[in-house]
Amino acid sequence: MGGVAFIGMKWVRSYMASRLRRGISARALGPNEARVLYDGTVALCAAMLSLALDAAFVRHASPDGRLWCAMLVLAPILVTASLALGIYGRLRFSPGRVKALALALSVAIAAALAALISNDVPFALLWVAIAGGPIIVARLLLGIAQTARRTSLAVAVNDRGPVLVIGGAGYIGTHAVEQLLSAGHAVRVLDRLMYGRSSLSDFAANPRFSFVEGDAADISRLTEAMRGASAVVHLAGLVGDPACAVDPEFTRHTNIFVTRMVRAIAQSMGVRRFIFSSSCSVYGVSDDPVDELSRLTPVSLYAQTKIDSEGELLSNTPDDFFITILRFATVFGHSRRPRFDLVGNLFAAQAIEDGVITVVGPDQWRPFIHVRDLGRAIAETIDADPLVVQSQIFNVGDERLNTTILGLAKAVQAVAQTYRPVEITVTEDPADKRNYAVSFDKIQRTLGFRAQTSLEDGIRELIEKHRQGAYAHYREEAYSNVAMTRHALDRFHDPDELSRIYAPLSR
Ligand SMILES: NC(=O)c1ccc[n+]([C@@H]2O[C@H](COP(=O)([O-])OP(=O)(O)OC[C@H]3O[C@@H](n4cnc5c(N)ncnc54)[C@H](O)[C@@H]3O)[C@@H](O)[C@H]2O)c1
Repeated sequence: MGGVAFIGMKWVRSYMASRLRRGISARALGPNEARVLYDGTVALCAAMLSLALDAAFVRHASPDGRLWCAMLVLAPILVTASLALGIYGRLRFSPGRVKALALALSVAIAAALAALISNDVPFALLWVAIAGGPIIVARLLLGIAQTARRTSLAVAVNDRGPVLVIGGAGYIGTHAVEQLLSAGHAVRVLDRLMYGRSSLSDFAANPRFSFVEGDAADISRLTEAMRGASAVVHLAGLVGDPACAVDPEFTRHTNIFVTRMVRAIAQSMGVRRFIFSSSCSVYGVSDDPVDELSRLTPVSLYAQTKIDSEGELLSNTPDDFFITILRFATVFGHSRRPRFDLVGNLFAAQAIEDGVITVVGPDQWRPFIHVRDLGRAIAETIDADPLVVQSQIFNVGDERLNTTILGLAKAVQAVAQTYRPVEITVTEDPADKRNYAVSFDKIQRTLGFRAQTSLEDGIRELIEKHRQGAYAHYREEAYSNVAMTRHALDRFHDPDELSRIYAPLSR
């Protein structure tokens, strides 16, 4: 009971904050607010009319206190019953006739209670006759219009052009490309190849794959890549706290300004679907499990750039533009563009190459997810009903993979020990305050998403890849986000490069 009250309070607080941010005007009215306002107003007006008709033609006397009371409570009862039946929640995307049936039930509940309170059945029946039509029939008519809109949107959104994956040569990007191709999509990648081009070589022969090399900040490359696309998956950026700390100006340019540009170009070129890769690191420090409505307490510039981009992307979104924010859990696993700055991959490399896993901050909780599952989550979001995922934030992961850093180290040790003895050394890091256990209930409920690769299976696959010689030494510069960010930074400050990128298009 206490838990429900806590979640309720949290919801009310977060709703009030966002309501105040949007301001009080008809344009700022959310779709559910408009529904509640409509139902409440119709119920109240119908109650006043019923009261007058009842007094004039049935009672032939003025209304008594009980009747006045019934008149006043009808609207709140109707809205509360509709809320409890899910009309403003889980039934929002149901067919019009299901919503009309549920509304008929809340009208009946409200009328029955009004009859009990007033002890005046004709008054309640008059109210049903007057309010029932506008409330129930309006939903049926809206349902027909929505079905038509949904069909035309599904055609417009899903059936045209390739999915553009910006940052598709990266660690997650190559998995997203693979999953999108196998789901039957044509895929185009725009990438500046910070980590080389070999990660894309497996796709080169696929006739549904195409590649544009370039920086997303380069408007001519961006528009070339965007032309004719059906959707954008924006994964490009500087990734991780150390890389983002190299040069804050460059970080904001790459992670916020470029994201703003990608959205503006997508919108202006009629690309209606947009997926943005955010991160669960936006939650920062929390002693309680967090979900999409939790307070954000970023502890790094990286996390702050994700929060700023989310805010920009979700504000002033037109009805026919479909933005979805995916907050990825901490990723691990093998990819065509290997990363060893990720704690799971680093531990597997240390275990198999050094025989020692160095744990820092053993009790910090992290949510983990295999990189192949993330690629699948992206493809499934692209294939989801656009109206269901529009302007939604989803944590992407699986609670079964939430564990502490020490728990992860032990899982790696257990797998690696079949090949060689492995020790674990533990130290505390007072500077690293990140700690969060995440709820993935929303993505599971809405899209049915669950991880298919467990922590143990993903680690075993990584260790096998090490043993097969798939990687150079894990400390090689080619794998370092920080080293590659420094190289990219040199280009960012190079006047020739800047004048090329910002040159007028006609030159
Ligand atoms: N790996 C994780 O644990 C994790 C967790 C949460 C969120 N994310 C997010 O997922 C996204 C992808 O992460 P990743 O691990 O695949 O990173 P990555 O560094 O492997 O890939 C990023 C790719 O983007 C490209 N790129 C960078 N800036 C670009 C630009 N301006 N124009 C064109 N291409 C550019 C790089 O060349 C690289 O191929 C990032 O936005 C990251 O913040 C990752």
